[in-house]
Amino acid sequence: MKPVKAVVFDLYGTLYDVHSVARQCSGFYPGRGLEISAMWRQKQLEYTWLRTLMGQYLSFEAATEDALVFTCRQLKLALDDKTRATLCDAYLHLQPHPEVPAALSALQRCGLPLAILSNGSVHSIDSVVGNSGLRHHFAELISVDSVRLFKPHTKVYELAETRLGLHRSDILFVSSNAWDAAGARHFGFPVCWINRAGNSFDELGVQPDMTATSMDALPGLVDRQAGAA
Ligand code: LAC
Repeated sequence: MKPVKAVVFDLYGTLYDVHSVARQCSGFYPGRGLEISAMWRQKQLEYTWLRTLMGQYLSFEAATEDALVFTCRQLKLALDDKTRATLCDAYLHLQPHPEVPAALSALQRCGLPLAILSNGSVHSIDSVVGNSGLRHHFAELISVDSVRLFKPHTKVYELAETRLGLHRSDILFVSSNAWDAAGARHFGFPVCWINRAGNSFDELGVQPDMTATSMDALPGLVDRQAGAA
């Protein structure tokens, strides 16, 4: 792999822990937090993919809200308007994975621009990143809003090339979502898959160039690569 000129991250799951909302879920539904957040996340993703296949865009926040409504109905849990609003707001205040702030600082010291390319709307990305105090690490926050399609559509990955003014082969794409890592690799980015959970990679005809168990490993990988240039 040749040295890269920028690093682009997926947001949900990769930098931020989507299951940090389990705590708020447990507050409303004691003992059910992780069960709710797991189904909520899975449905949220499905709704983004299905809407893209249906040719009908709606924002990530709306897909997130729809997924919450489905989850509560499926689990036979009452969801009043206040609970719904509070839990959707919790999604704008996700916690970064513990190693992420230090890893971003170390990566910045490598001198490469860092960016986020997410299925989130401009509002949701700005909120999550701003609320966590990590905005200063990123040169660009790139939302799918402008193309009205969701990853893994190739037109979304193209946004990173356009916004950074770089060819795909110069951009290291980092995601913990195997489906996203596969989409990005298929598009032509060099890819690092962050596999915190010890999962198997998806069978989608491509493999990541690198795999790490957390973001901690990333500055070393990028540095070694620069040294090898
Ligand atoms: C992202 C989600 C879907 O694009 O992981 O940030």
